[in-house]
Amino acid sequence: MASIYVCLFLTARLTVSPSSSQFFEGDFVSLSCEEDDSSAEWTLRRNTSKQQRTQCGDGWGEGAGSSCNITYIFTLDSGVYWCESREGPISNMVNLTVTGGSVILQSPVLPVMEGDDVTLLCKTKTTPSNLPAAFYKDGSLIRKQPTGHMTIQHVSRSDEGLYKCDISGHGESPSSWITVTEKPTTASTPTTSALPPDCSSLQLGFRVVLHLLVFCPYVISTLLMMSLYRHRAKGNKLSILNLHTHPEQGFDDEHEDVITDVTTEHRF
Ligand SMILES: *[C@@H]1O[C@H](CO)[C@@H](O)[C@H](O)[C@H]1NC(C)=O
Ligand SMILES: *[C@@H]1O[C@H](CO)[C@@H](O)[C@H](O)[C@H]1NC(C)=O
Ligand SMILES: *[C@@H]1O[C@H](CO)[C@@H](O)[C@H](O)[C@H]1NC(C)=O
Repeated sequence: MASIYVCLFLTARLTVSPSSSQFFEGDFVSLSCEEDDSSAEWTLRRNTSKQQRTQCGDGWGEGAGSSCNITYIFTLDSGVYWCESREGPISNMVNLTVTGGSVILQSPVLPVMEGDDVTLLCKTKTTPSNLPAAFYKDGSLIRKQPTGHMTIQHVSRSDEGLYKCDISGHGESPSSWITVTEKPTTASTPTTSALPPDCSSLQLGFRVVLHLLVFCPYVISTLLMMSLYRHRAKGNKLSILNLHTHPEQGFDDEHEDVITDVTTEHRF
């Protein structure tokens, strides 16, 4: 339970606006890392075919705080985007595809939950109204829609796959992966449904950290007591041998040394 709590507060969610995983070249895209604890600093990073792990402002995007705007997106901006904090945890990852073509499929950018309805929209760059479109999943035609959009009701795991669409006379969209996540099985864990999929692996990490936090003070205090005991024994011997006039002073200096040692050790 404690680990779920920690996970909730240290994980950010990357959101994309407008909410789509595909864009036309020249579109404006706003990305932001959202989380409850605004004290943590999140950095937006991405992998593209050309560069890995570059952060917002470093050759792409304009950032302020935990958000990043791309005012004119290029096909080379296609890639995987995520938020990362200096402490290590990362958010959900998002695939963005930018096309130089004239058709896109607007599909959910975040994983959808089992049982939800999902609407896919097939759009052209030039025509403002929706045109009839054909939708494909994993390479096979699934539906032709005169309205240009298609709703999958009560999605299940079998709806997961690679989707694209086609508008006659305009062309084909790129493909985008739609991920379907499992609905939480018990009523006692409704909060976990809001977490990004990476959270489960983070939980494991934090459980380890929690254990370290519990065990460290115990180990440190044991070490501290042992060294204090050793130093005191040594100090007493020295003061007896040297007939020190201030026997307590020697001990105090060494006592301070022990404290500094422990503090450095603690900063691992
Ligand atoms: C980004 O690229 C780096 C280096 O190639 C790789 O280790 C990492 O797993 C990639 N991250 C994602 C989210 O694809
Ligand atoms: C990004 O765009 C949004 C919406 O247009 C705006 O509110 C925000 O201030 C912009 N942020 C940056 C860093 O330019
Ligand atoms: C991103 O796209 C690649 C290639 O289509 C796919 O293997 C990967 O699972 C996708 N990642 C996410 C987070 O959607």
